[in-house]
Amino acid sequence: MRRVVCPGSFDPITNGHLDIIGRSARLYDEVTVAVLINLEKSSLFTVDERIEVLQTVTKEYPNVKVRKFHGLLVDFCKENDIPAIVKGIRVVSDFDYELQMAQLNYRLSGVETLFMPTNPEYSFLSSSRVKEIARYGGDVSGLVPDLVHKLLIERLRG
Ligand code: PNS
Repeated sequence: MRRVVCPGSFDPITNGHLDIIGRSARLYDEVTVAVLINLEKSSLFTVDERIEVLQTVTKEYPNVKVRKFHGLLVDFCKENDIPAIVKGIRVVSDFDYELQMAQLNYRLSGVETLFMPTNPEYSFLSSSRVKEIARYGGDVSGLVPDLVHKLLIERLRG
């Protein structure tokens, strides 16, 4: 069984994340989407809300499961027998940060990191920008799944 993890905060999931998850699901037998529990960072959606949304929007992929984790990602990988992490790279500047993390994670545990170029259609996209646009009434349809679009409007303007 070839397993990978797609980790992140997913506050909220964007179409860029979903593209990486879907492409991973076509390449690997099992993809675990791992949502970081970060008590130091304030979030718009709770971890459980994010998990529910992720489960709904990845329903079309039977080999995708959604879990939460805290602490080190490599410990989560070891506990779940996952040998590799998939990370989307949007722009060259992502690579600086991701390369350091990948090398550290490998040094810590031997867990590999695989970089997948983001679909250029979404290379400008981030959860933070999506929240900012939605907060000030901008249109984020097409940037996030329809369910997330609806939830953002409810949460930020409702
Ligand atoms: O969506 P994000 O916030 O960019 O995701 C970042 C994430 C969750 C992938 C990263 O912060 C992470 O792996 N955090 C867990 C702590 C950890 O393992 N740090 C790496 C030490 S080298």
